[in-house]
Amino acid sequence: MLERLVYESRATGDFGTLHLFHLLTHSQGRNERLQITGHLLYLNGRFTQCIEGPGDRVETLWQALQRDPRHDQIELLMRRPVTERVFSEWSMAFSTHASYYVHGMRGFFPLDDEERSPLIALCSA
Ligand SMILES: Cc1cc2nc3c(=O)[nH]c(=O)nc-3n(C[C@H](O)[C@H](O)[C@H](O)COP(=O)(O)O)c2cc1C
Repeated sequence: MLERLVYESRATGDFGTLHLFHLLTHSQGRNERLQITGHLLYLNGRFTQCIEGPGDRVETLWQALQRDPRHDQIELLMRRPVTERVFSEWSMAFSTHASYYVHGMRGFFPLDDEERSPLIALCSA
């Protein structure tokens, strides 16, 4: 069974460009192995993440995310079975201000001038 889960959280520290780059590349590598796809938004010190994949894998990642001290105030917004992925092309797409872009970042979608993510609407699909 395929599941999609969306949560919001607050970064506990100051996430600079390199921290975000490491978090993203590490997550993308792990997600590829776990058949997880999704999207991570970082804006004003807060994360909104959508993860999708086989239910047991989503559960394992969800447990790990809740143990991770790099963020807190974790609030589950949605979790439900789905018939297909909306982020099938990205092990973890990433949206934040264009200034955080590092050469080599995969799946980077900069926010527009009004700080809107081009992909966030897909999370509530
Ligand atoms: C905001 C945020 C998003 C994360 N996204 C992912 C992710 O998509 N995939 C992943 O494997 N780890 C992700 N992590 C890292 C996990 O929380 C965790 O460190 C990693 O899965 C290893 O967990 P473990 O050592 O407890 O098994 C993320 C961490 C944070 C703070």
